[in-house]
Amino acid sequence: MSELPRHIAIIMDGNGRWAKQRQLPRLEGHRRGSETVELITESCRELGIEYLTLYAFSQENWNRPSEEVGGLMDLLRYFLSQKRQKLLDNEIRLRVIGQVDRLPERVLRELTKTIHATRHCEKMTLVLALSYSSRSELTELINQMIRGAMAEGDASRVVREEEIDRQLYTEGLPDPDLLIRTSGEHRISNFLLWQMAYTELYFTETLWPDFDRAELEKAIHEYQKRERRF
Ligand code: IPE
Ligand code: IPE
Ligand code: MG
Repeated sequence: MSELPRHIAIIMDGNGRWAKQRQLPRLEGHRRGSETVELITESCRELGIEYLTLYAFSQENWNRPSEEVGGLMDLLRYFLSQKRQKLLDNEIRLRVIGQVDRLPERVLRELTKTIHATRHCEKMTLVLALSYSSRSELTELINQMIRGAMAEGDASRVVREEEIDRQLYTEGLPDPDLLIRTSGEHRISNFLLWQMAYTELYFTETLWPDFDRAELEKAIHEYQKRERRF
């Protein structure tokens, strides 16, 4: 298989350990991690990847110390406002998945602006997972469907897979072909549980701030060597 993955999803992990190894504050690790986001987005765009989904902040991450959460929100706001023009120049559309109404107003404003500004861009779609939890999304969807069926008094309601696809945040996106997780953890951490049923998984020891284009190409190469049977 020598085709490029159409959709790459990445669990960007290891910022904290990167900083710790250098006796730097955790937030410095996150700041360096945000530079990797820019680099990898550019690299994917140049390589011709159509969809890149980055797990930037999970719902579980709200439980981190408030100073760290605040720092991450500041970085996010900075990224969304400062990189808007660059996304436009590269014709990259921004999308978001997750419970964004939990984000601070100042972040949400920049997020909405950037999504709106890039909505016509067609060279690549960058999807940020923010305040994302796959289980909570699926649970909420199931509850909605039960409420709908009860309201209609429809006791024979049957749900089809495509219906679920259409009602998830990822509606209209192809499922990820390749998942990359950095920093040596071999977990999915509540990311795209439904969508990754057939995704090829790739794990690397490299910490996210050290992940670079060569590492990305290595992951893609590994993907191309695997034979997918489904
Ligand atoms: C990933 O790095 C970034 C986020 C989860 C926001 P971590 O902060 O989880 O870094 P480690 O796992 O502690 O090294
Ligand atoms: C997963 O990393 C979430 C993101 C990369 C945003 P974590 O570091 O939060 O995950 P766990 O706690 O190790 O599973
Ligand atoms: Mg981590």
